[in-house]
Parts: sequence; structure tokens; C-alpha cells
Amino acid sequence: MLDKQIEAALNGQIEMEAQSSHFYLGMATWAETSGLNGTAAFLYRHSDEERQHMLKLIRFVNERGGKAHIPMLEAPKAEFEGLQGVFTTLLEHETRVTASINEVVDLCLSRKDYTTHNFMQWYVSEQIEEEALARTILDKLAMIGSDSAGLYLFDRDLEQLDPEV
Ligand code: FEO
Repeated sequence: MLDKQIEAALNGQIEMEAQSSHFYLGMATWAETSGLNGTAAFLYRHSDEERQHMLKLIRFVNERGGKAHIPMLEAPKAEFEGLQGVFTTLLEHETRVTASINEVVDLCLSRKDYTTHNFMQWYVSEQIEEEALARTILDKLAMIGSDSAGLYLFDRDLEQLDPEV
């Protein structure tokens, strides 16, 4: 049976992953309507992956005798200051997700729930990759600046980039 405090923390994380999926859908829509189809494709995939992160948590909570709470979501941001704005927002959001995952991990240790602690390690690794990827994208954008040929190639490259690296 899942400890009540752990269950509440996991439900908080379910909300965070659901909100991430929703946020990235807002970004994908912005990109698609700004003529950035490669970036949109990347962000749609990223949104789908966040939904998978949410589902994995829902199944874990329910299978361990808890009850997953399906949250109400905040409307995502619809306008951005260009690609820099999108990926800066994405990185800031992922940094908050990492902090939240670390809090769940801390709680697992203090409540001696080693099963959930083990389960959460997948999320710990995933966050390292996601933050690194967002930083790499921001570095590329800083190099490109306002060069339109560079931005064209950047958008085309993102079409192929897997957010789950
Ligand atoms: Fe599933 Fe990007 O946090």
C-alpha cells in the first residue's frame, strides 16, 4: 500500500507531467502557425512524451494501491518571443519539473519507500537528458541569431530530432 504522503507527491507529479504536455502543445501550435513546421513536429512529439510520463505515473500509483488523481489544467501560453522565447520557457519549465522530481525522491528516502524511489530513477535520468537537450537547442539558437538561412536549417533539423534522446 502506498504511503499517503508519497501518493500525494506522485499525484503532484502527475499534474506536472500533464501540464508539461499541455504547455508543449501550446508551443507546438504557436510554431505551426508561425511557419515553423519542423519545430512544431518536435514539440508535438515532446507533448506526446510528457503524456507518456504522466501515464506511467498514473499506472504506478493505481497498481500500488493508491488512486491517481486526473488534474484540471491551466491553459497554456499561446504567444512567444520567437524560438528563443519558446525554448527558454521550455528549459525553465523543465528545471521546475526536475526540482519537483527531486522532492519526490527525497520524500521516498525519508519515508523509506525504496520501491517508489527505484521507480523515480527513470524520471531522474530523463530530466538530465531533457535539460541537456533544451540547453543544446538554446546554444544553437544563440549561434544562429537572426540569420534566416540558419533558422531555416534549424527548423528542418528539429523535424528529425527525438525529444526522448
Ligand atoms: Fe516529463 Fe519533461 O518532464
